[in-house]
Amino acid sequence: MTAPIREASPPRKILEVGPGTGPFTREILSVMRREDELVVSEINAKLLSQLQKSLQKDERFSLKLANVKFVEGPVQDLLRSGERGPYDVIICSLPFLNFTPEMTDEIMTLFHQSLAPEGTLAFFEYAGLREWAVTFTLPNNKKRVKGVEDVISSWKNRAAKEGSLRKELTLANFPPANSYFLKF
Ligand SMILES: C[S@@+](CC[C@H](N)C(=O)[O-])C[C@H]1O[C@@H](n2cnc3c(N)ncnc32)[C@H](O)[C@@H]1O
Repeated sequence: MTAPIREASPPRKILEVGPGTGPFTREILSVMRREDELVVSEINAKLLSQLQKSLQKDERFSLKLANVKFVEGPVQDLLRSGERGPYDVIICSLPFLNFTPEMTDEIMTLFHQSLAPEGTLAFFEYAGLREWAVTFTLPNNKKRVKGVEDVISSWKNRAAKEGSLRKELTLANFPPANSYFLKF
């Protein structure tokens, strides 16, 4: 997921969305240079404060943390404000399958608007999870999941047409995950 950071030339402005306990945050900090800037957006206040505390205890990151801004709240609010963008790389771990198609499209539109020229949006999906959800959930939920799938597909198609779309399968993950890299 952090490949686009290495591919972009520094200084890079990076947005991480939905860090949770921070597995990608640590990876991002490891590849970040001191001149790069990272904004971490997390809706769950408790998770964000735990993540901040655990990173502060980690000596590897002490210098880089000066260039990290932790923003509590929905990423939609941050991006609508236009604050701190545009971003060279957006790394998103949002659980789109739990969202409505409308919310998914709103967030993807905001990501698109917040990317710098040549910027990359990276997100991942557990391989086969959407297909599983479409097949096995209740009819109402099935319609919503299918709607989310259509929204995500349309953004992938748009990237493939206007810029580029790359997909990487990570078998080391369980369940295996597909990472997608979109440029517009
Ligand atoms: C699936 S977890 C990702 C966890 C982590 N990246 C990992 O791989 O273990 C999704 C995270 O997104 C956060 N989240 C959900 N909706 C959000 C929103 N609208 N804006 C920012 N963060 C959000 C959740 O609180 C949660 O921490």
